[in-house]
Amino acid sequence: MNVMRESAADIAAASVKIAARGVQVFYGDTHAIKDVDVDIADRTVTAFIGPSGCGKSTFLRCLNRMNDTIDICRVEGRITLDGEDIYDRRVDPVQLRAKVGMVFQKPNPFPKSIYDNVAYGPRIHGLTRNRAELDEVVEQSLRRAALWNEVKDRLQAPGTGLSGGQQQRLCIARAIATSPEVLLMDEPCSALDPIATAQVEELIDELRANFSVVIVTHSMQQAARVSQNTAFFHLGNLVEYGQTAQIFTTPRDPRTESYISGRIG
Ligand SMILES: Nc1ncnc2c1ncn2[C@@H]1O[C@H](COP(=O)(O)OP(=O)(O)OP(=O)(O)O)[C@@H](O)[C@H]1O
Ligand SMILES: [Mg+2]
Repeated sequence: MNVMRESAADIAAASVKIAARGVQVFYGDTHAIKDVDVDIADRTVTAFIGPSGCGKSTFLRCLNRMNDTIDICRVEGRITLDGEDIYDRRVDPVQLRAKVGMVFQKPNPFPKSIYDNVAYGPRIHGLTRNRAELDEVVEQSLRRAALWNEVKDRLQAPGTGLSGGQQQRLCIARAIATSPEVLLMDEPCSALDPIATAQVEELIDELRANFSVVIVTHSMQQAARVSQNTAFFHLGNLVEYGQTAQIFTTPRDPRTESYISGRIG
């Protein structure tokens, strides 16, 4: 416990965007997240790593209340965004998710055109004043997601007709089109080839200038390349959290050591 508090202090050096305290998550009787405290720094990329089933996706979904959509899921504890409790009754989860966007592991384009997928968020939140502005947001989002060149001549074609990797980049474009303050990415590159992966990693690095990015990844190389802070989860516990370089070179907990050296997971 002391170890975590200590490393949390390193993290707190940057300004805190999201603070989680005493977070517990249950699916019926399954206790999926156990008393997690974590500060997510602003303008930083934070990686969540850990073996399959340890709770990375579950915890990520707490940060924009996506777990609200799962009937048997119960979330306890306190999570704040810029000091405001996101589970407060007055918070509209739809508004929250425009600020805290999400990209899922499995690409999930809407059954709409490529254009309308990206324009969806700006439209429902009234972020643009006219068609020209909307066109601009759509183009910029697709460019940043490294998809523009492949789709610029068929923006009216259905998003679901793209390849898996292209669909994932479309979902990234859709998520950044509302200029979220925080972007949650759950294994965003698992369906991508190495070229698209490199482009998405570049985008993540670019987003960090203005936003806070949290990325779940099974790739240690990816965590090391894109993140400044890393949190290691194991069996629902946040075992260790600190600067990425420290976690990968001098982990303090033997479980972290075992995982990064390939002995568990
Ligand atoms: N919708 C759900 N209903 C019931 N149990 C769930 C649900 N989603 C996750 N769980 C359980 O919660 C625990 C954590 O799962 P979670 O998906 O968060 O793990 P993960 O770390 O993201 O794993 P992976 O690396 O395989 O994606 C597991 O025991 C899982 O079976
Ligand atoms: Mg997962």
